[in-house]
Amino acid sequence: KESNASFMPKLKQEQSFSNQLQPQASFKVAVLGAAGGIGQPLGLLIKMSPLVSALHLYDVANVKGVAADLSHCNTPSQVLDFTGPSELANCLQGVDVVVIPAGVPRKPGMTRDDLFNINAGIVKTLVEAVADNCPDAFIHIISNPVNSTVPIAAEVLKQKGVYDPKKLFGVTTLDVVRANTFVAQKKNLKLIDVDVPVIGGHAGITILPLLSKSRPSVTFTDEEIQELTVRIQNAGTEVVEAKAGAGSATLSMAYAAARFVESSLRALDGDGDVYECTFVQSELTELPFFASRVKLGRKGIEAFISSDLQGLTEYEAQALEALKPELKASIEKGVAFLHKQA
Ligand code: NAD
Ligand code: LMR
Repeated sequence: KESNASFMPKLKQEQSFSNQLQPQASFKVAVLGAAGGIGQPLGLLIKMSPLVSALHLYDVANVKGVAADLSHCNTPSQVLDFTGPSELANCLQGVDVVVIPAGVPRKPGMTRDDLFNINAGIVKTLVEAVADNCPDAFIHIISNPVNSTVPIAAEVLKQKGVYDPKKLFGVTTLDVVRANTFVAQKKNLKLIDVDVPVIGGHAGITILPLLSKSRPSVTFTDEEIQELTVRIQNAGTEVVEAKAGAGSATLSMAYAAARFVESSLRALDGDGDVYECTFVQSELTELPFFASRVKLGRKGIEAFISSDLQGLTEYEAQALEALKPELKASIEKGVAFLHKQA
């Protein structure tokens, strides 16, 4: 069962807007940065999930109103709000999945790495609290630069003695969502059927869609491959420029993050057929972190889908080699941040 085909259609099928819906499972999900551009629509989408019994919303400000608003939706989960560092520990008690979209977004002309100085500290502080209060939770890092914030989170968890590499995920689902959309549009395919693995990292050339592994199998000209690859790599910048100073992708990101949450909850609930691309500690390449498709299970990552990296086209193989130095530097910058602080 491909996750792409399961998230929104499943919600529709099960009439999740309806108050007749009974919860199928009872997982607790926390969103840290819940009053932000991503946090608010993400809260709404998670509120629609039949797998969630409690939705904990945390931010440094403005979260009370968001929670009051969401709590009026007649779906099963209970919504609780938590404001500021003094309420963070309570927010995290008993939580199964923690999603972190806290931090500043890009403006035109900036790279994701330009966000490092502010977001590194935010992610560090939040993951310290996760380590202290819900060390067994799945942790989904959305805050940019993901290529560095995930290694930062790993180092924090190591320092706290609770690191489980199978449960720490950089959210790269938006790259897959974009690749699926753009390929379906270009090739006139039914959107629901399209699934394109995206590997590497989450910035510029480190985002590598494996178009040769698209499902259903599609033939592309060299020009189409070049055009689609560059569009997928620059899609974040496309949105940043269109928003002209008002931030970066929020709605498509919330959609993608909600899909990754739903996949994680299905895995926690025992569904044995859940696959997602995500940026995680990995041995698929010589890099310590790498995005690839993984199989998710009750304890986190159950398997790495190494076959995606076999039989790459020459274009893909070259692009993979070309992305490694940048990705390596971003990972090392994240690790070094923690050691500088120590
Ligand atoms: P935003 O500014 O609209 O919202 C961020 C929220 O984080 C705000 O509500 C803010 O109050 C909160 N916040 C700041 N410091 C905090 C702290 N210490 N604890 C808790 N909350 C805190 O930004 P946004 O558009 O929602 O984007 C958030 C982040 O997500 C950015 O870093 C952006 O680059 C990133 N992003 C990642 C992806 C991806 O694919 N992984 C996609 C889009 C955006
Ligand atoms: C995205 O891909 O949309 C995000 O990483 C936000 C950004 O800064 O581009």
